[in-house]
Amino acid sequence: MTQRQLTVAERAALARASAAAAPHATVVSPNPAVGCVVLRDGEPVGHGVTEPPPGAHAEVVALRAAGGAARGATAVVTLEPCAHHGRTPPCTDALVDAGVARVVFAHPDPNPVATGGGARLAQAGVDVVGPLPAQDPYRGAVAAGLEGFLTVVRHGRPHVTLKLARTADGAVTNPTGERWVTGPLARRAVHRWRGAVDGVLVGIGTVLADDPRLDVREVPVGRQPRAVIIDTDVRTPVGAKVVRAGTVLLAATPSGAGSRERRRARAAVLSQRGVEVRFVSPGPEGRGVDLPGAVGELAGLGMVSLLAEPGPTLADALLGADLVDRLVLHVAVGLGDGPLQGSLAPPPGTPWRTERSGGAGTDAIVHLRPPPPPR
Ligand SMILES: NC(=O)c1ccc[n+]([C@@H]2O[C@H](COP(=O)([O-])OP(=O)(O)OC[C@H]3O[C@@H](n4cnc5c(N)ncnc54)[C@H](OP(=O)(O)O)[C@@H]3O)[C@@H](O)[C@H]2O)c1
Repeated sequence: MTQRQLTVAERAALARASAAAAPHATVVSPNPAVGCVVLRDGEPVGHGVTEPPPGAHAEVVALRAAGGAARGATAVVTLEPCAHHGRTPPCTDALVDAGVARVVFAHPDPNPVATGGGARLAQAGVDVVGPLPAQDPYRGAVAAGLEGFLTVVRHGRPHVTLKLARTADGAVTNPTGERWVTGPLARRAVHRWRGAVDGVLVGIGTVLADDPRLDVREVPVGRQPRAVIIDTDVRTPVGAKVVRAGTVLLAATPSGAGSRERRRARAAVLSQRGVEVRFVSPGPEGRGVDLPGAVGELAGLGMVSLLAEPGPTLADALLGADLVDRLVLHVAVGLGDGPLQGSLAPPPGTPWRTERSGGAGTDAIVHLRPPPPPR
């Protein structure tokens, strides 16, 4: 495979394809939201993004738009074109059949079933450039847009963003007795985030204390995320706001006959309301649910991205189990009169780095990422 440089027009097309695909992530989930631009003499003649199932892949959409102009043209794609017969025929075949002369792609497809598209195109005589080097910022932008898909393929679980709201002195509830810790602008940011993920997760402690809806209300949304409750003993009240069609409840498989009867009976009542109850392995020493297993179960339900908004118990457990890919701290800097306990900093002892930071009204927002894995 060649490693030649991309032209300026190809880089611009890649940025455009990546930006066009990103908003489609939840709509096409669990498939990756891919973008493709067909260039003829450096000018775009066709665009495409992945269609929701059972629709076409981005390459096919862009080739259709380009029509006869695709012959001898360059296809610029965010993710390596697939080489396998899945729900749709291989994109590599569509590119070759359309007479595309050159294919540029940013990120390799890590999916063992679909990988190898670049090599297959090269064998068919297409001039192939890709994947870009791991440190290339264009590949980085594409990877960010595909983080859910990539996390499922690599780790067998959805990508997890953990959001924690605190006062300046570290409290997780508002000392004035108000329902929310942070202000309306920060909450709006949370609603935007909910609209960009497949599931919003809390523990039973939060359901019992706050009775949250866990849906998107304050901003327009293409598709509502599913609410997910980690509820060992199926204690979620049938009248809770989160009890509705599409909600997922992850409970622990009971060991004793008595608790088995009880949990199954409660699960049956919730199921009648449309809640999908899944029993997973209990956690260490039989307490709680096994978190890696529970979060992995959600990948099996087609979820690739989660926003976790639990209380401190489940938040600590997710961090302890290494299940957090991004930590978002919302800090009400004007609330709380105790000493500033490093509320804007990562948890003590963690080598997390700041991805970005800013403000929303009276609140500070810090996004933190774990260090990248060693190469
Ligand atoms: N500031 C914020 O960002 C924020 C967000 C949400 C909630 N809150 C506040 O936090 C408080 C509730 O806190 P919380 O910690 O009880 O709620 P939580 O973290 O949402 O739920 C904790 C519960 O999850 C269950 N669980 C099941 N498996 C677990 C595992 N492996 N590890 C840990 N937990 C597991 C446990 O219940 P079982 O005993 O049934 O196993 C546990 O008690 C409320 O006051 C609420 O207002 C604050």
